[in-house]
Amino acid sequence: MTTLDVVRGTAARVADAVKVHGVGGTEVRALDHVTVDFPAGRFTAIMGPSGSGKSTLMHCAAGLDTLTAGSAWIGDTELGPLSDRKLTLLRRERIGFVFQAFNLVPTLTVRENITLPLDLAGAAPDRAWLEALIDVVGLGDRLGHRPSELSGGQQQRVAVARALAGRPQVVFADEPTGNLDSQSGGEVLGLLRRSVDEMGQAVVMVTHDPTAAGWADEALFLADGRLVDRMERPSAGLVLDRMKAFERGRS
Ligand SMILES: Nc1ncnc2c1ncn2[C@@H]1O[C@H](COP(=O)(O)OP(=O)(O)OP(=O)(O)O)[C@@H](O)[C@H]1O
Ligand SMILES: [Mg+2]
Repeated sequence: MTTLDVVRGTAARVADAVKVHGVGGTEVRALDHVTVDFPAGRFTAIMGPSGSGKSTLMHCAAGLDTLTAGSAWIGDTELGPLSDRKLTLLRRERIGFVFQAFNLVPTLTVRENITLPLDLAGAAPDRAWLEALIDVVGLGDRLGHRPSELSGGQQQRVAVARALAGRPQVVFADEPTGNLDSQSGGEVLGLLRRSVDEMGQAVVMVTHDPTAAGWADEALFLADGRLVDRMERPSAGLVLDRMKAFERGRS
């Protein structure tokens, strides 16, 4: 593994973010004045009940959706004023995505899937980086295989490697272990953890799972579109206690 200087600064940020879905009688305030920083070299878990705004926060922070009010930033770039074209380029060049469904291309090999974002961007791959990444993913002997020949956990590790291939400023993951058994989930979370520790990556992960949140440096808790709590160095047990306390508070 190549050792890299840990990148400093804020990789992504939303400030006073408001998102209202729908119009007229069907309006839903999915984000209600949320301000949060996602620093480089930090693994952040976003938690909260179903419908609390986790995916909305991630999508708006990543420029996949627009805010109703407030601002979203990737590094020093504010997303709101960007044209669609510039936003597409920024997403391609500076953000990595991992979704619940692995979203690999079935007809491409493991290696081709990993380099796909670079190929789309017409960027020359950094060979040493790719080799290091393949080593970390632990699929060096499977590079010529198709996704259908891999287990779920292996497929998601390929998806994480793909997200990291272009050295993005930040990786956003929406329930990356939602479709995995606990062992495969642990492999994927361990990989995200290493990308933070060894590459200075910023990782933002939405999850329902206290065990998954236990891999993060910080857990943020959303309820009804508001940031209601945050926990440094979360453990699965503490996160579970906090979730239960919220449930009691709501009922
Ligand atoms: N495109 C949309 N149109 C209308 N309402 C939406 C839309 N997307 C989300 N919402 C609403 O906004 C609120 C927040 O949704 P969001 O998907 O961010 O929640 P979540 O915390 O990710 O939930 P889950 O854990 O179930 O994935 C919910 O009330 C949801 O119904
Ligand atoms: Mg969601």
